[in-house]
Amino acid sequence: MISVGIVGTGSYVPEKVLTNFDLEKMVDTSNDWIVSRTGIRQRHIAEPETPVSELCAQAALRALEDGNTSPEEVDLIIVATATPDYLFPATAGIVADRIGAKNAAAFDLEAACTGFLYGITTGAQFIATGMYKNVLVIGGEILSKFLDWEDRSTCILFGDGAGAALLQPIEEGYGFLGFDLGMDGSGNQLLSMPGGGSRNPASLTTLEKKFHTIHMAGSEVFKFAVRIMGETALKAMEKANLQKENIDWLIPHQANIRIVDAAVKRLGIDPNKVVVNLDRYGNMSAASIPVALDEASREGKLKHGDTLVMVGFGAGLTWGAAVLKWSKRGALENA
Ligand code: UT7
Repeated sequence: MISVGIVGTGSYVPEKVLTNFDLEKMVDTSNDWIVSRTGIRQRHIAEPETPVSELCAQAALRALEDGNTSPEEVDLIIVATATPDYLFPATAGIVADRIGAKNAAAFDLEAACTGFLYGITTGAQFIATGMYKNVLVIGGEILSKFLDWEDRSTCILFGDGAGAALLQPIEEGYGFLGFDLGMDGSGNQLLSMPGGGSRNPASLTTLEKKFHTIHMAGSEVFKFAVRIMGETALKAMEKANLQKENIDWLIPHQANIRIVDAAVKRLGIDPNKVVVNLDRYGNMSAASIPVALDEASREGKLKHGDTLVMVGFGAGLTWGAAVLKWSKRGALENA
């Protein structure tokens, strides 16, 4: 099997910022409640005319530039999103067209907040087997368009954005060392958008029932998240033959600081080794891990040879983790 790594990262968030103080004027909430229960202080919100494909395209172009690769060289684009431009066709094709990736196959992948981890795991297989050399994995979401802005238990949590990673063959001993993915479909009702699909097609009734916005059993999801984040990270570390002492950086799904803290405690990792940006962005679902990864890379936190664990959970219920030995030295010429 060919070693696979991330040789370029990029991210993009819309300009407009919605603070907790703005939300205080919209629903019965307070900055204090939101900060103490979630750690979130603000989130970015897309303009009404902006589709998720545009956020994804901007992040993708930045990842390609970072990885010194042209759009024409891309073999495959995977867009992980729960908030696509359309039910069909795939957002990935719209992104390919927008960035000029004329030679790429493209598809969407839906694993909600775990989407980026499912995406890199999937994308890496195409490179490991020698089928493709350049795979672009993008996690992008515009959850602001699917929120009930009268429901204080959900509308305070989410933000919009996109993050991208360029996967390539990489020098041996570096790149992905272990993955873990999971799904418990019996929890599908705990976090969902019930309307608009084939079970509840759009109708006046689905509109009246607010089926086109996020429905969430918050505390159930919270309990699941606290348990699963540690479990799946440990499984991926086991597959990579690594102990907690070997971990340089943990990049968790940025849903809630209390969930992150619980996972960090369970894993016994030094809190200084944890990348957190949810205070500035809220929960960007599939975009949260790649945006945090891109920021950590651009801030110079990630050194050649560092070991990273990315870990997340989401609707489905889904979960996953990936262990990566960081190197941006692609090995295309030797592949
Ligand atoms: O990517 C996956 C996405 N989902 C998640 O990550 C969600 C995971 N769950 C959570 O993060 C937490 O469950 C929440 C942040 C959503 C809620 O925190 P909690 O500590 O579980 O609070 P709660 O739902 O038990 O609610 C406590 C109280 C309730 O009032 P009563 O019944 O005790 O009087 C809520 O009505 O807080 C109330 N409440 C609020 N108060 C002020 C709920 N939302 C708000 C709000 N502002 N925004």
